[in-house]
Amino acid sequence: MRIDVDSDITRLVARAADLIEALVRTRPDAVLGIATGSTPEPLYAELAARAAAGLDFSRLRIASLDEYVGLGADHPQSYRHFVQRHVIEPLGIDPGNIVVPDGAAEPQQAAADFDRGLQRLGGVDLQILGIGPNGHIAFNEPGSALESGVRVVSLSDSTVEANARFFPSAADVPTKAITQGVGTILRSRRAVLLAFGSAKAEATAAMIDGPVTAAVPASALQRHPAAEVFLDEAAAAQLC
Ligand code: F6R
Repeated sequence: MRIDVDSDITRLVARAADLIEALVRTRPDAVLGIATGSTPEPLYAELAARAAAGLDFSRLRIASLDEYVGLGADHPQSYRHFVQRHVIEPLGIDPGNIVVPDGAAEPQQAAADFDRGLQRLGGVDLQILGIGPNGHIAFNEPGSALESGVRVVSLSDSTVEANARFFPSAADVPTKAITQGVGTILRSRRAVLLAFGSAKAEATAAMIDGPVTAAVPASALQRHPAAEVFLDEAAAAQLC
């Protein structure tokens, strides 16, 4: 695991964007794995700026990490909607080149279709990740098996609470999701995790310095052959 700490989020984001730019220049049809949530938004804005400056993302293929059960593509808080707004449109990606779970479909069927879609892509070349304050990656909550695959999961109270800021109230946050598993994420060829702010400090320290354990799903990244973690000083504050 390579750790990059910087007081300046703009510089961190530029370095993460450099990795994606290098991938796109080498393999224009590479598979980029997208995390949603607030943390990667500045990274997607930086990629959008590079697209506006002429970098060609049009052949890139996109895989999502997860989706809320019950939210269709037209719901403003669905992850499909997020990917459309922050990635597909600004980067000029062909909407036919995106694999996302269908939150509006029957969940077990949607999970099976998502899994098949990921297999057809041949895996993810570079997976962007965030971390939950409880140590989750994607929607793999504490207790998720380290070898887990794509599946339907129940969200923990802590995640529902953390994501309530995007909804009118906590009661409106879906309680189930379809997610790539920890094992799926470990098979990505490169993983780039971003964490900013003091709310992520404890989980970040557990991910990097703690034991590899299902209690902290992000700790599985210690076993990833090419994982890079980009932290601001607040998120890095509890590292040994
Ligand atoms: C989103 C996802 C989640 C988030 C995590 C952090 O696709 O998989 O694991 O990365 O909940 O969310 P933010 O960045 O909003 O703090």
